[in-house]
Amino acid sequence: MAYKIGILGATGAVGQEIIRLLHERSFPIGELRLLASARSAGKTQSCGDKTWTIQETTPESFAGLDVCIFSAGAGQSKMFAGEAVKRGCVVVDNSSAFRQDPDVPLIVPEINPAAVDGHKGILANPNCSTAISLMGLYPLHKAFGLKSFIASTYQAVSGSGAEGITELEQQTRDWAAGKPGSEMKKEVYPHQIAFNLLPHVDDFLDDGYTKEEMKMLNEGRKIMGLENLQVTCTCVRVPVFRAHCISISAQFERPVSVDAAREAIRNFGGSELVDNPATLEYPMPLNYSEVVPCGVGRIRKDSVLENGLALWVAGDQLWKGAALNAIQIAELLHTKGKL
Ligand code: A2P
Repeated sequence: MAYKIGILGATGAVGQEIIRLLHERSFPIGELRLLASARSAGKTQSCGDKTWTIQETTPESFAGLDVCIFSAGAGQSKMFAGEAVKRGCVVVDNSSAFRQDPDVPLIVPEINPAAVDGHKGILANPNCSTAISLMGLYPLHKAFGLKSFIASTYQAVSGSGAEGITELEQQTRDWAAGKPGSEMKKEVYPHQIAFNLLPHVDDFLDDGYTKEEMKMLNEGRKIMGLENLQVTCTCVRVPVFRAHCISISAQFERPVSVDAAREAIRNFGGSELVDNPATLEYPMPLNYSEVVPCGVGRIRKDSVLENGLALWVAGDQLWKGAALNAIQIAELLHTKGKL
C-alpha cells in the first residue's frame, strides 16, 4: 500500500524535515503533494529520486489525499483542516490550533498510541518543548507516578521557523563583522538573539505566564492522561539552532531512586540515557540535532522536593518536536490500518 500524502508548509523549516524523514524512514509514498503559499508555487523539490512541484494551497488541494501533515501555523490549520477532512484526508496537525479540542487526539506515539483509535479526521502533534520533556518525564511517571514538575526550557530558534534560523545566523555574522547590536536586523525576535537569552516564547498572558509555558501544563495533562498534574514553567529562547533542552525538577507519588530512574529511561523506546558525570557526558543540543531519540541525563535526587528528581532532556526541535513525531503518528495510523 502506498499513500497519497500531502505536506502543508512544505517549504518551511519543519516541512523540509518532513520531506527528508519520509524518505529516510521509507514511508510508503505513492504521491507527495507539496503545498505552500502562492509565493512558492511552481518551484520544485526532490524527495529521494523523485521531484515534485510545489502547489499553492486551496481547499481542493486535499482532494484524493490519504493524509496531510500540516506545518504552516495555526492560522492555515484553522483555514484548511476542515476542508481536508471534508475531502476524506486525515490531518496530522503540527500547530496549536486543535491540541486542546476534546475531539482531537494529541499524540506522542511512544506514550499514548491508543489515542489515535478514536480520531475523527484530525490528530494533533504536541508543542515541541512538551514532546521533548515528556520523553524524559513519561518513563519516570510510569516508574514513580508523576505529581508535578518545575521546568525551564532552552529553546532553539528553529522553533520560530526558517526565519528564526536565518536571524540567528545573520546576527552572528554581523557580530563577527563588528556590527553593534543596535544595528542588527531584529524581525523575528524583539531583541538580539545572538549571544543573548530571551525569557519569552510565544505571547504573554494576563497572569504573566506565556502561552508556550501553559502548553507544558495543558498538553502534558492531555498526553499522559493526568488531569491533576501541576506544572510551572519558564520558557527561554536561546541562540541554538535546532535542539531544545529542558531542565526539570519533578515530584512523584512514590519514593524515587536514581538507579531506578536511569533504568526507566534505558527501557523506554524513544529516549536514551546519557548520564555519566565522571566522564563529563550529558545530553547537549549539538549531540541531539538530527538525531531520532531524545537524550536524558543529569538525573539526581531533587534536594527540595519530596520524592523529587532533577533531570535534563535534549531533543531535536525539528524532529521529535515536530516533523518526526508527526511522521510517527502517520506511521502509527498506517500500522493500525487507519489511513
Ligand atoms: P511559503 O514558503 O510559500 O511562504 P516556517 O515555519 O519555516 O516559517 O514555514 C512556514 C510554512 O508555511 C512555509 O512552507 C510557508 O510557505 C507556509 N505558508 C505560509 N503562509 C501560507 C499560506 N497562506 N498558505 C499556505 N502555506 C503558507
